[in-house]
Amino acid sequence: MRTIGVFDSGVGGISVLKEILKEFPNDNIIYFGDSLHAPYGDRSIEEIRRLCLKVSDFLVFDKEVDALVIACNTATGAAINIMQERYNIPVVGVVDNGVNEAINSTSNNLIGIIATPATVKMNIYPNTIFKLAPQNSVFQVECPLFVAMIENGWVDSIESDNLIKSYISKFSENIDTLILGCTHYPLITKYISRYFSGKIVNPAKETSKSLKKIIGDGKENLKYNPSRVFFVSGELQKFKKVAEEFLEQPIEDIRKIIL
Ligand code: DGL
Repeated sequence: MRTIGVFDSGVGGISVLKEILKEFPNDNIIYFGDSLHAPYGDRSIEEIRRLCLKVSDFLVFDKEVDALVIACNTATGAAINIMQERYNIPVVGVVDNGVNEAINSTSNNLIGIIATPATVKMNIYPNTIFKLAPQNSVFQVECPLFVAMIENGWVDSIESDNLIKSYISKFSENIDTLILGCTHYPLITKYISRYFSGKIVNPAKETSKSLKKIIGDGKENLKYNPSRVFFVSGELQKFKKVAEEFLEQPIEDIRKIIL
């Protein structure tokens, strides 16, 4: 029976997992949230690479997953090429998938991206967009505080609202499409949409669809009872609370691990 490995620096990859669970209800899933080391996006590229290779080696070599989903933009930017070379299984990231949806959605060719400082620094979104659709203009805003606030359980307050407003107001152009370039951000879409009325792109759905194109839908597994195991390197209860709320289902098998 197949196992799909999904990982992120913490709870953000749950936005991708939610779509993976819809597309692959019959497969075993192992999720790894490296919350002890979140936010990745404040770290150097070398450090991000080192951290996420530890996680991916654990999933591929120890847990023998059959496909790997990098449910993290920062990790995708820092390490997807290395991982695709290193492992003999399909490795899918989130960036290309978000870009495809955004370039199909924009009418005025002005695309905005909000992401972690590391993702902005790596320029992976502008580079990918220009390669596929050079007619677009791309504007990036880094949102350094979001990940820590989401990991701790977002509180809807005047302060958090003002923070969203201050980040979104940095877009000087009239962008009509906004890519959530960090998998944590879909957890606060409803708050972001108070300040952005255009199309908000969450790369998660496209990511799980593109994985399905590569590995098929796993219907042959129908007779089994698929397992869902969560490994978390930081505080279990904090992770569980935020993840369950967004997933809208209980997490039963959750284990603490420090690699
Ligand atoms: N969720 C991640 C991303 O998509 C990483 C956030 C972080 O740890 O900084 O970029």
